[in-house]
Amino acid sequence: MKIGMIGCGNMGGALARAIAENLGTEDALLLADFLPEKAGALAKELSAEVADNPTIAMFCDYIFLAVKPQMMADMLADIAPVLAERTADKKPFVLVSMAAGLSMEKITTMAQGNYPVIRIMPNTPAQVCEGMILYTVNELVRPDCVKTFIEMMTFAGKLDFLPEHLMDAGSAVSGCGPAFVCLFLEALADGGVACGLPRDKALKYAAQTLKGTAELVMKTGQHPGALKDAVCSPAGTTIAGVQALEESAFRAAAMKAVVAAYKRTMELGK
Ligand SMILES: NC(=O)c1ccc[n+]([C@@H]2O[C@H](COP(=O)([O-])OP(=O)(O)OC[C@H]3O[C@@H](n4cnc5c(N)ncnc54)[C@H](OP(=O)(O)O)[C@@H]3O)[C@@H](O)[C@H]2O)c1
Repeated sequence: MKIGMIGCGNMGGALARAIAENLGTEDALLLADFLPEKAGALAKELSAEVADNPTIAMFCDYIFLAVKPQMMADMLADIAPVLAERTADKKPFVLVSMAAGLSMEKITTMAQGNYPVIRIMPNTPAQVCEGMILYTVNELVRPDCVKTFIEMMTFAGKLDFLPEHLMDAGSAVSGCGPAFVCLFLEALADGGVACGLPRDKALKYAAQTLKGTAELVMKTGQHPGALKDAVCSPAGTTIAGVQALEESAFRAAAMKAVVAAYKRTMELGK
């Protein structure tokens, strides 16, 4: 099997690393980027091959489209003749798009053919095998191709199927979420520094606390509200902190961040 990555930036690079972990001896990973040096450096790290976009379009079974949404139309227009030629020769392939806000219908329109498309919404923790990858497929993707795709992505993190009409909402939570979480993490650490902790210790304590609490929610299945209650003793220290967060409308701010990201995704997808 041949897997191609067009675009080796933040997300393309992260997914290429995850895919490289799971390549069989018969498989090949081909990398392309505007800047061949960028693809070259990644290829060296992953023992992958550098290629150009038409080569990936011609030979890869899974063609990952990892360019910014605003670059997608031009990039697909360039490879559209190759995809058409390949289809005429009855050589199947699957397009895998990760572009925020672009529907599978838009991708096939840009690619100028009614092709199998898997639309995914990954996030940056995929770099450390802890990504949340939402995916949806159009009717042309065969079930065995979905199975192979899921196996291919094992090292990127957790995968979850979502119907396409919910992808933008999902993206606003898990695609944009790392930025929101990092703001909170940084603020927690800043608070520690304000109380006299050295920066490195404050950051370590904040990061491990976020990670551990998330694990607790996922492993116990308990509601976050119940876990919050469990650490708030009457007239204690934690409830004093919770009150300060509530007075600053912390939860409303977090909800607004997700809704704002969702609305912006809708605007960009028009
Ligand atoms: N970053 C995230 O957290 C995140 C999360 C979920 C989904 N995504 C999606 O992932 C996709 C990539 O985002 P990103 O953050 O990885 O962007 P990025 O860091 O800018 O990477 C895109 C790469 O593609 C290259 N490129 C642009 N046009 C190309 C072309 N025609 N042929 C080959 N390479 C080309 C760019 O080169 P230049 O830099 O020279 O233009 C850049 O190296 C986007 O669709 C985004 O919506 C990103």
